[in-house]
Amino acid sequence: MLAPATRNALTPPAAPPADKHPSERGDSARSARAESNATDRPAPAERDATDRTVPAERDVSDRTVHAEQDATDPTAHAERSVADRPACAESAAGEIAGGDNTAVTPRARPYVVLSCAMSLDGYLDDATDERLVLSNNEDLDRVDAMRAGCDAILVGANTIRRDNPRLLVRAQARREQRAENGLSPQPAKVAIFGHGDVDPESRFFTDGDTDKIVYCATKTAGRNRTRLGDRAEVVDGGEPVDLELALEDLAARGVGRLLVEGGSTVHTMFLTAGLVDELHLVVAPFFVGDGRAPRFVGDGQFPWHRGNRATMVDVRRMDDVVLLRYALSDRFEA
Ligand SMILES: NC(=O)c1ccc[n+]([C@@H]2O[C@H](COP(=O)([O-])OP(=O)(O)OC[C@H]3O[C@@H](n4cnc5c(N)ncnc54)[C@H](OP(=O)(O)O)[C@@H]3O)[C@@H](O)[C@H]2O)c1
Repeated sequence: MLAPATRNALTPPAAPPADKHPSERGDSARSARAESNATDRPAPAERDATDRTVPAERDVSDRTVHAEQDATDPTAHAERSVADRPACAESAAGEIAGGDNTAVTPRARPYVVLSCAMSLDGYLDDATDERLVLSNNEDLDRVDAMRAGCDAILVGANTIRRDNPRLLVRAQARREQRAENGLSPQPAKVAIFGHGDVDPESRFFTDGDTDKIVYCATKTAGRNRTRLGDRAEVVDGGEPVDLELALEDLAARGVGRLLVEGGSTVHTMFLTAGLVDELHLVVAPFFVGDGRAPRFVGDGQFPWHRGNRATMVDVRRMDDVVLLRYALSDRFEA
C-alpha cells in the first residue's frame, strides 16, 4: 500500500525569487520516465479472454484509501507507508532557499516508463468497438513483468472508458515476489480525469485490492469524489491537472517507479512535458490506416526532434512484434 495522502488538493510549491534561473530552482531535476503497455486492453464487454480466466479481485472492503481519508493525520495510515522501500528511494537532492528564505525542496518525481504498442502506421487502436490486438503473448508477459516491477500504473480517463483495463499483475509468482519484498501484491492504479464521468464499475476501480488514485480537474473533483465514493481517492489536481504536481504527490506517497500505459492524450502530455525517462514502444506488423483512430501521440512540441535525437538503448524481436526501447532522460536506468 502507498503512503497516506496528506492533502486532497495539489498546490504548487512556493514561488522562487524572480531572479533565479529555473535550474537553480531544482526544475532541472525533472526528467521523465515511463513504461507501459496497454496492449492487454480488454473490451468493455469481454475484450480479453485471458482476463476472464482470472478470478476478479473485487474485494475492496479492506482498502484504507478513500475519498474521506483524514488528510490532517499522516500517521493514521502509517502501516501503509512504503517510503522505506528500495523501489521508492528516488527523490530530489537537497533543499534550496525559497523566495521567503524558507527551505523549498526541489520537486521529486517517480522514475517514469511509458510503454505502449502501436501499428506500423503509428496507431494505438482502430476506430471500431472491437478490440484491436497489437501485442502478442511474449510481449504481454514482458508487460506483466514491467507492471510487477513498478509501484503504480497510470492511464487516462478515456482508456478506462474505452478499454476497461484491469491494470493488474497477472502472474501469481510475480505477485508473491512483490509480497516477499514487502510490497503490495499489486501496484497502485492511478488515473487522470478531466470531466471524468467514468463508470464506477469499471475494472480499474473494482478489480484488485490495491490503492486507486484519481487526479481530477478542479471543476469536477467534487462530483467525481461523490460518484466514486470509496472506490478511489480523488485528488484535486488543478485545472487542468498539473502532471508535475501529480508526480510530486505520487513520489510523496512512496511511488518510486511509475508505468504510464496510455492513451494518446496522456502520452502526448507526458512526452511534451519531458516527464518520461524511458520509452518502450512495441510495433505490431500491420497497418490501421484510419485517421479516426488514436495515434501513439498527438501534435505537440516534443523535446526530441531532428535537432535532438533520442537515445535508443535496445531493440528486441518478440516473435512478430518488435520492442524499441529509448532512454529519454539522464535518469535512465540501464
Ligand atoms: N496500444 C496501446 O498500447 C494503448 C494503450 C492505452 C490506450 N490505448 C488506446 O488509446 C485510446 C485512448 O486514448 P485517448 O487519447 O483518447 O485518451 P487517454 O489518453 O486515455 O485519456 C485522455 C483523457 O484523460 C484526461 N486528461 C488527460 N490529461 C489531463 C489533464 N492534464 N487534465 C485533466 N484531464 C486530463 C481527460 O479526461 P476526460 O475525458 O475525463 O476529460 C482526457 O480526455 C483508446 O483507443 C485506447 O484503446 C492504446
